[in-house]
Amino acid sequence: MKTKIWNVDNRSEITYIYPQVEEAATELQHDEVVSFPTETVYGLGANAKSDKAVSKIFEAKGRPSDNPLIVHIASVEQLKEISSYQSEIVHKLIEAFWPGPLTLVLPKIEGAVSEKVTAGLSTVAVRMPDHPIALALIEAANLPLAAPSANLSGKPSPTTADHVMKDLNGRIAGIINGGATGVGLESTVLDCTEEVPVILRPGGVTKEQLEEVCGKVEIDQSLIVEGQSPKSPGMKYTHYAPKAPLFIVEGSLPYINTLVKEKQNEGKKVGVLTTSENAGNVEANVVLSCGTRADLTTVASQLYATLRSFDEYDIDIIYSEAFPSEGVGQAIMNRLLKAAGNQIISQ
Ligand code: TXA
Ligand code: MG
Repeated sequence: MKTKIWNVDNRSEITYIYPQVEEAATELQHDEVVSFPTETVYGLGANAKSDKAVSKIFEAKGRPSDNPLIVHIASVEQLKEISSYQSEIVHKLIEAFWPGPLTLVLPKIEGAVSEKVTAGLSTVAVRMPDHPIALALIEAANLPLAAPSANLSGKPSPTTADHVMKDLNGRIAGIINGGATGVGLESTVLDCTEEVPVILRPGGVTKEQLEEVCGKVEIDQSLIVEGQSPKSPGMKYTHYAPKAPLFIVEGSLPYINTLVKEKQNEGKKVGVLTTSENAGNVEANVVLSCGTRADLTTVASQLYATLRSFDEYDIDIIYSEAFPSEGVGQAIMNRLLKAAGNQIISQ
């Protein structure tokens, strides 16, 4: 299959639907899969109501079929066709964070979307992306779109159309290129089916921000305690991994340099994932900075692209700085730990 690229200028808010977006929407109506930008990462969309279309997502990504998908919508009317939610908290969350990087796990209306989307669960995950192209595409297709991140299963999520091309060229109908995404990490997944909402996956909206709107919020124990099985099926898979083994170092910069030297003495080529504050003082074969520690949203935004960049070098091992696990740092450390297969070296 030849994968089309639709280039759309992302510098201005869309005031009309671009012909390229109309074309992509037509593909979706014909049960094809199309990648599109959101404010978090690029998604791989298909008609959430069609078994045939949704199957193509799993095929293109090589994704295990027991891992359910997020349904993307452009209006609250669309949500009402999918979920019979009643809770006051859900109303407040929608009001405060949609459109935006918050996915709500809600009770589903049977038959509203393909069983393949929800992997046999009685709940459905829904979000309204804060991106003019994503919203225009959903509206033009006039469909709820099931959309995981548009990477091959196990790879870091794509934050540019080029990343999507590298993973999925020839496997999907097309890609809408709307430039680099902003947030850089996926949405926060929040289970709203219990009395107290539970974070199943930390992401673009922080625990602190959620608590300001709806009071107490819990974190799925599996994210904190090792050995607990996660409530969100996707969280059990290793993910986001670069080719070379990655270790997170909880220690000082001189300590990182000592670790690098040790490996280099064994004849290894070493990469270090660092920040602009430290980049000038790291002594390794490949030193890549993913943002500034003074503003961790810059790290969130660049993390996946930086992990992918390491694959372009012929290196044997990567050491990464650690980040404080609060605010957006919680999502950053969650993804880094997965990329590292939980391998931490403490000074
Ligand atoms: O930012 C995002 O959320 C991106 C963009 C494209 O919207 N999408 C994304 O989708 O990250 P994906 O498929 O890579 O991750 C979906 C996560 C998985 O961890 C999955 O297990 C979880 O959401 N999930 C989906 N439906 C669920 C449900 N009913 N209950 C619990 N977890 C669910
Ligand atoms: Mg993903």
